[in-house]
Amino acid sequence: MRDINQFTVTDAVKDSFRDRSNERLVFLLDKLVEHLHDYVRETNLTQEEWLASLNFLYDCGQISTPDRHEFILLSDVLGLSAVVDMVNTKGGGTEMSNLGPFYLPEAPAKELGADLSGDREGVVMLANGVVRDTLGNPLPNATVDTWQADGSGMYPIQDPKQDKFDMRAVFKTDDQGRYYYTTLLPKSYTVPYDGPVGRILRATDRHAWRSKHLHYMLSAPGMRGIVTELFFEGDEYIDSDAVFGVRKSLIGKIQRVGRDDNLEYDLERKPDVRVDFDFVLSPVDR
Ligand SMILES: [Fe+2]
Repeated sequence: MRDINQFTVTDAVKDSFRDRSNERLVFLLDKLVEHLHDYVRETNLTQEEWLASLNFLYDCGQISTPDRHEFILLSDVLGLSAVVDMVNTKGGGTEMSNLGPFYLPEAPAKELGADLSGDREGVVMLANGVVRDTLGNPLPNATVDTWQADGSGMYPIQDPKQDKFDMRAVFKTDDQGRYYYTTLLPKSYTVPYDGPVGRILRATDRHAWRSKHLHYMLSAPGMRGIVTELFFEGDEYIDSDAVFGVRKSLIGKIQRVGRDDNLEYDLERKPDVRVDFDFVLSPVDR
């Protein structure tokens, strides 16, 4: 160990993980050490920069609360979350995209055709489609859990005066694998930029806007569950989403619904527009 230098130190640290029985943990640690050390050697990181980096992480911890996870935001704006979603999209299923900070487990179960918009202002939109397997077969009784911002770009959970379960629901697909409900066309919103992550955005002349989207978590027995988002063609931020969530395959088209159009569903509320989007789930063994 006395002869250690900037190159041999990497193996020395890896060798220090003496209990290698948890293979996955040790593999992840080995790779982390390799890449961190390479980063310092490649950038000639100064001691001031090293300390500034650690103080930045300290600040992320300081501003984090149970409702605000600055490290997830950091992962999002650096595209790390996007890469994790991409490498975990498998077997021909719909591409994954950001979970984001506003998911709530145990959202209320609602009947197909329900309206999520209540008395809020905005454009009423029919969201609908079929959940299929990778062979194209419809998946009846699949779970479609959805949550979103309202017509002002706010999630009700962000406002203590609103019910935190508003603008979200869990549906089961019908015997044709269909899901359908009305809601509001969501508005774009900014990720929080009043903290350390915001400092990065400002220092690099980046905006904090997310392209408007609906969040979905889908599952069905025997199928690989997915977390994804549905975006809208023509949106102002479709090519510059602050967290790199947009994928070409996740862009839906908003179409007008005419006053006299006959819709194929029994709906609680008449929509102004519609977005048709099918999801694909791959089997767990693929
Ligand atoms: Fe979101």
